[in-house]
Amino acid sequence: MSSLIETKNLKKYFPVKSGLFGSRNLFVHAVDGVDLEIKKGETFGLAGESGCGKSTLGRLLLRLLEPTQGEIYFDGIDLLSMDKKQLRTLRRRMGIVFQDPKSSLNPRMTIYDILKRPLDIHKLVKDENEKRERIIDMLEAVGLTEEHLIRYPHELSGGQQQRVSIARAIITHPDFVLLDEPTSALDISVQAQILNLLVRLQLELGLTYLFISHDISVLQYISDRIGIMYLGKIVEIFNIKDFRRGEIYHPYTAYLLLSTPALHPEKRTSEQVVLHGEVPSPINPPSGCRFHLRCPFAGNECKKSEPELVEVKKNHYVACYHPEQTKEELRPLVKEKLKMYESVLP
Ligand SMILES: Nc1ncnc2c1ncn2[C@@H]1O[C@H](COP(=O)(O)OP(=O)(O)OP(=O)(O)O)[C@@H](O)[C@H]1O
Ligand SMILES: [Mg+2]
Repeated sequence: MSSLIETKNLKKYFPVKSGLFGSRNLFVHAVDGVDLEIKKGETFGLAGESGCGKSTLGRLLLRLLEPTQGEIYFDGIDLLSMDKKQLRTLRRRMGIVFQDPKSSLNPRMTIYDILKRPLDIHKLVKDENEKRERIIDMLEAVGLTEEHLIRYPHELSGGQQQRVSIARAIITHPDFVLLDEPTSALDISVQAQILNLLVRLQLELGLTYLFISHDISVLQYISDRIGIMYLGKIVEIFNIKDFRRGEIYHPYTAYLLLSTPALHPEKRTSEQVVLHGEVPSPINPPSGCRFHLRCPFAGNECKKSEPELVEVKKNHYVACYHPEQTKEELRPLVKEKLKMYESVLP
């Protein structure tokens, strides 16, 4: 499979003021050297705790944010060398769906106008009747009907609003869709419907997804591969088969999985494993491995130098000095946790 998106040493530092009267210039290291490859037709899941840089990374990929450093390629095209006009043309091939459909849909526009806008921006359909047909086709593809056309966003349920957001993202027939926590604001039952819709649309339209979620149980349902982010860095990348077998090599990945609550309360074990400690400040990340302060296996080496992301087995990458120990010691817990997901997923 060839890649649709590739980044090299991608960084985004946000300036923040601190100190008395904002006298010191500091930087939030939101994304801090990411090499990522998203393959054509795959769903790449991105997980990590709040504030680790997932949304920032997603936005950089569409160049909705300017990186501080690094390279980004979209289908082989150097995204950072494009001028505004070229970028606007290329954006037809990229869609985006956000977490909160209510705030991402303009409350003063009807569903018809919301879906017509991308077609007009990219001058995709001239004839008004054809435009209307394309909009209705799209609505039906996401499980809504013609009668929703004249409604306003507040007249729809949360799940229906998210269906409109998805329709808006794919009406230009993009190659790539960034899904930034698209189901987090929805009830469990609606979540499953939206996930199924996304899977179906991907198959029908040949889409490539970057699916961002803090919830690894959602990601394991929809992703082909998953990347785990910690304090601006990707610490592990694996395919879903390794994950289902409990083959996890980074302690952070294991603890992220172990600390997510079971979907059904009656399936919760008495020993809910929790990840201790706060995420350190992204303004001044810890030296050595960024996770060492919270890691049960941390040794001297981990405090001194930062581990690189290396291939531990075919197509499985990890940035850790003790991957085998992690896998062996945490596997029983990981496997027990994974069992809980088997029966409850849609
Ligand atoms: N415009 C900005 N200016 C300053 N700091 C920012 C800005 N946007 C994000 N950040 C900081 O960058 C870091 C990464 O933020 P980001 O939104 O990418 O995290 P996230 O992983 O998407 O979190 P969440 O799961 O809560 O959505 C955070 O520390 C955040 O406070
Ligand atoms: Mg986010």
